Amino acid sequence: MEKLIIEGGRPLYGEVRISGAKNAALPLMAATLLAPGKHILRNMPDLRDTRTFVRLMENLGVKSERTGDVLLLDTTNLLHTEAPYELVKTMRASVLVLGPLLARFGKAKVSLPGGCAIGARPINFHIMGLERLGVTCKLEGGYVDASIDGPMLGNVIYFDIPSVTGTENLLMAAVLAEGTTVLKNAAREPEIGNLVDMLTGMGARIEGKDTDKLTIHGVSRLIPADCSIIPDRIETGTYLIAIAASGGAGTVTNCNPSHLPSLLEKLRGVGLKITETETTVSVGWFDQEDKQRVIESVDIKTMPYPGYPTDLQAQFMALMALSSDTCVVNETIFENRFMHVAELHRMGAKIRIDGHFAVVTGQGLDGLNGAPVMATDLRASSSLVIAGLAASGRSEISRIYHLERGYENLVDKLTRLGAKVWKEQE
Ligand code: EPZ
Repeated sequence: MEKLIIEGGRPLYGEVRISGAKNAALPLMAATLLAPGKHILRNMPDLRDTRTFVRLMENLGVKSERTGDVLLLDTTNLLHTEAPYELVKTMRASVLVLGPLLARFGKAKVSLPGGCAIGARPINFHIMGLERLGVTCKLEGGYVDASIDGPMLGNVIYFDIPSVTGTENLLMAAVLAEGTTVLKNAAREPEIGNLVDMLTGMGARIEGKDTDKLTIHGVSRLIPADCSIIPDRIETGTYLIAIAASGGAGTVTNCNPSHLPSLLEKLRGVGLKITETETTVSVGWFDQEDKQRVIESVDIKTMPYPGYPTDLQAQFMALMALSSDTCVVNETIFENRFMHVAELHRMGAKIRIDGHFAVVTGQGLDGLNGAPVMATDLRASSSLVIAGLAASGRSEISRIYHLERGYENLVDKLTRLGAKVWKEQE
């Protein structure tokens, strides 16, 4: 396995270009199963998770061809409708093939994803919604064995919690159903809007994009897609926080600032100067000369979009470890998303956990010192990178395969910003 070495304490300056969104790329790849033919997905990031998803699609019989950041998926001839445990256990988003396989073939056998570091991650809303559309779901041997004779029948589906992949799975199931389906209390993340745009381009009839109520009028067939993946808002936020924590200034390009309403306001509350254009965000400190700049302590509470994203909670906590006072981080989405805290402690952070709350007592700009730490999950690992960049001295982050799931060319992008960072064998 590899580890990441960071010589911290160097302010980051310059530009960093954002890649396509991991959490849009995965559902959009699944949606190509809905229509036989050659689909084109542009701005496709090259990540561990997207490579795993391509392997899952090829296992189903899909032919794939990547040219630069364009992925061509030929879903004409599929071999079977099963997603095996070996693939699903490494990436829970594999459950996203359930809806499209049922819509096209009337059957699917998908391994239950199992939990992960941040929580149990159940899929009961996915199953409930499919059953509301007439599907029979049997849970046995660690698999969901789902089937229906004939097309699914439109219905009203209400989500107790606005589940992102739950909304995506049922959206894809409903586009070929007979009649109308209404998803209520649906998730509103921008990645869902990207999926709605792709499905509409394939001939689907969907109303309510970007709202919590999606109305889908089923159609009999769809045509192959040619669409672009939106920029990754979580990668965008990660680099903005990293530049801020390092004490530098920079511009994130090829991004969509309107997808980060909550984070940008929180960064302004920290005392940063944030300026936006259509496709860039610049971050810096109001008075660079003043080395006594202060990072204000700001509370965050993670919420479904457009609230503060849970996927940027760990990163913001690293920034708050450098703040001048005390703040509270309230993680309302997942039950175990403070795995980064123990590692930040090793770097000198003062953080106390009480259930879903973490109280961060900032230690000031020099509050963190480099140390060997261990990545536990994707976003916790990016929090450790941010802390390592801001800390004085050397940090070594082990198990960086977690990082590679969701951050394309991380070492190259950080190096271009002036960081001293490289990989070594563990
Ligand atoms: C998506 O996961 C993202 N993954 C996650 O990003 C993200 O953290 C999460 O949404 C929340 O924004 C992808 O899009 C591939 P949920 P998802 O269903 O869909 C509960 C990353 O770092 N729930 O919106 O699995 C669930 O336990 C990853 O890129 C049920 O109880 O999340 C959680 O508490 C991590 N039953 C809440 O709902 C269900 O059937 C929200 O989960 C489904 C979810």
